[in-house]
Amino acid sequence: MDKLRIMSVFGTRPEAIKMAPLVQELHQREGIESLCCVTAQHREMLDSVMEVFHLRADCDLDIMTPRQTLSTITSKCLIGMDDAIERLKPDMILVHGDTSTTFAGALSAFYHQVRVGHVEAGLRTYDKYSPFPEEMNRKLVTQIADLYFCPTRSNRDNLAREGVTENVFVTGNTVIDALKTTVCKDYTFTTKTLNELDYSGKKVVLVTCHRRENYGEPMQQIMTALRDLALQNEDMELVYPVHLSPVVREAATKYLAGTPRVHLIDPLPADEMHNLMARVYLVMTDSGGLQEEAPALGKPVLVLRRETERPEAVEAGTVAMAGVRYDDILRMGNELLRDDAAYAKMAHAVNPYGDGNACARIADAIEWWFGRRTDRPADYLP
Ligand code: UD1
Ligand code: UDP
Repeated sequence: MDKLRIMSVFGTRPEAIKMAPLVQELHQREGIESLCCVTAQHREMLDSVMEVFHLRADCDLDIMTPRQTLSTITSKCLIGMDDAIERLKPDMILVHGDTSTTFAGALSAFYHQVRVGHVEAGLRTYDKYSPFPEEMNRKLVTQIADLYFCPTRSNRDNLAREGVTENVFVTGNTVIDALKTTVCKDYTFTTKTLNELDYSGKKVVLVTCHRRENYGEPMQQIMTALRDLALQNEDMELVYPVHLSPVVREAATKYLAGTPRVHLIDPLPADEMHNLMARVYLVMTDSGGLQEEAPALGKPVLVLRRETERPEAVEAGTVAMAGVRYDDILRMGNELLRDDAAYAKMAHAVNPYGDGNACARIADAIEWWFGRRTDRPADYLP
């Protein structure tokens, strides 16, 4: 029997981190030829992940340009994908999550009548413009996809409410599979600043902030609140690996550079980031991935957004919504830094997003769907 040609398509840092363990799992399956097409919507930040997880691209569309617009990303991906699909002839394309690469990858597969598997399917805020453009991207991919790999039961229920019930698998989130391979107790950082921080004597706060809907006023409020938090708490250190987006770098420099106890550093390789997260006191972020990783590592998270498509850890009590207003962020940050009882309530490890075996379930589901195995994998319903 011919091997199934399964092509994973991704382009940004978070997609790469979450698809890396799946590309590796598919590679290990005898009946599968695991192909990897990167759009390089991110260049340096993608290459760093490829290196950490020892991935090699069969096809690299190299589309990134400085300050790229949504239209440029989508159109360049679509045109590049024509050639990739014609050359690599996949039986199925896997896309991940909700980026512009995700949407364009799925649309291109459809144009070529290639089946689509959507990894991290079913996340929703039900607010068309927040996160922007991700909420619309993932809804559009739902219309195109053939197979749906939902991290959680509530993601599956979201799809069911939209009438999507066929070929929906609850698998856990592949990010937990990735964390299993990166975090280790005796990890030594290669980034100098990280080795110099006093993780037991100081309260180290890890910050990231990059979302498009936070550009402008929200980012100004977030960053001035972070600045004042650092100024008001002498026992804290704030570490912020700043995303390479020029919009984000300009804001971070304007509002935070030179503030005592604030360390603005370059983006970290995924293994450095995950091990840093395992050691810090608190995470403050507008990132999706960090909201999933930090709870698994027992770290409280304050979300710097108005809503979240990841309610599970909020319900488990380890993630709280701080929003995008100066007063709320400063108040909630100060509470977790100064009130031991409030902190202890949030600082316990929970794993609502997976058990580290999501990739095996996804690979099983693909083999089952193509008739290469008899048993449908059981849903992950903790
Ligand atoms: C993208 C995704 C977002 C995801 C985020 C993860 C879209 C529309 N947005 O947003 O869903 O949460 O990635 O980080 O798909 N840049 C570099 N080098 C890099 C990466 C980015 O220089 O390695 C700069 C470029 O100037 C680029 C800009 O950052 O134009 C913005 O990148 P882009 O992918 O358009 O948006 P993100 O905010 O990263
Ligand atoms: N990350 C990283 N280095 C950094 C910042 C983040 O490796 O300097 C990782 C992080 O641990 C998570 C992923 O990148 O796995 C999240 O990416 P990002 O916040 O850019 O995107 P989002 O999850 O919001 O889509």
